[in-house]
Amino acid sequence: MNKKIFSGVQPTGNLHLGNYLGAIKNFVQLQNDKRNQCIYCVVDLHSITVKQDANILKKNIRETTAAFIASGLDPEKSIIFNQSAVTAHAEGAWILGCVSRMGWLSRMTQFKEKAGKDKEKASVGLYVYPVLMAADILLYDATHVPVGEDQKQHLELTKDIAQKFNNDFSVPNFFPSPEPIFELTAPRIMSLRDGAKKMSKSDSSDMSRINIQDDSDLIALKIRKSKTDQEPIPEELIDLEKRPEANNLINIYASMSHSKVEDVLRNFSGKPFSYFKPLLADILISELEPISKKISELLKEPDVIDKILNEGALSAKKISGPIIKSTYDILGLNTILE
Ligand code: AMP
Ligand code: TRP
Repeated sequence: MNKKIFSGVQPTGNLHLGNYLGAIKNFVQLQNDKRNQCIYCVVDLHSITVKQDANILKKNIRETTAAFIASGLDPEKSIIFNQSAVTAHAEGAWILGCVSRMGWLSRMTQFKEKAGKDKEKASVGLYVYPVLMAADILLYDATHVPVGEDQKQHLELTKDIAQKFNNDFSVPNFFPSPEPIFELTAPRIMSLRDGAKKMSKSDSSDMSRINIQDDSDLIALKIRKSKTDQEPIPEELIDLEKRPEANNLINIYASMSHSKVEDVLRNFSGKPFSYFKPLLADILISELEPISKKISELLKEPDVIDKILNEGALSAKKISGPIIKSTYDILGLNTILE
């Protein structure tokens, strides 16, 4: 089946191994299947749900775009653009916000985590963040959405919003119900310091994550210092699952080497982590170093990046423009739009 793929990454700097393995690497794989239509968006409107410095945001939009391209996304094959360049996203978010229910949004765990203890002080944008995400997806009739496992709940909400719109306005199947695509081996990469926390841009400890642009020495150091336990690598999956930090490192290795976790265990069972860690560092360095170099090269030519984003936005408008127009029609709003 032809898949219509849509996904987004926030331009908040510090793209890390979780973003790479959980999302971007999958984007590239999906792009390379010619049957798919792929649209990848730098979701800058999502990033302003927490205050951003304008100059840094501008730099981060280019940097995230550069990371997409350096990882293998090709503007000839995929549409690559930034969200704010296509006004339909903000319009769609308003409309879908009017069919979304407060109760649905109050259950979103990402909001609860990001808002912290004092929810009254969180921005309204942060609260309705998942509605904008639903607009992103639904305005392109996306059928599949490659994301990390942390986005599962937002995808379920997107389905609910699509269904409610279709029901409320008696337009069955107007918005298709999108399915998430998770990376099989490593849908959730955990912190290198705490196997119970996901690897995240916002963790105060830089040692908790591998950033795509870390140099080789730093990657080797972070892996060497990563938390494990005293036990050697087990033989059986069931024994690994009880050990979150060990599990995370083995999953990262399996995902990077395109192998099954069982095969990694077979190769390394009985070996201590002091033996395994340098090999894990090597495999990370050999894949990330060329990407990091390419990002630095691309960033020397911001005009080239801006041109890619501009052309991507034009293509994106061609798809989302008619869909937002039909949405207006359905609601009875379209009077003077062409
Ligand atoms: P964000 O930076 O929050 O916009 O996330 C971009 C993409 O990376 C989304 O698809 C996330 O689900 C994914 N992602 C973020 N952190 C992780 C992680 N620790 N493990 C796997 N995927 C992740
Ligand atoms: N909410 C996603 C995240 O935090 C980013 C995102 C925004 C997204 N819009 C999207 C992902 C549309 C997939 C599809 O990672």
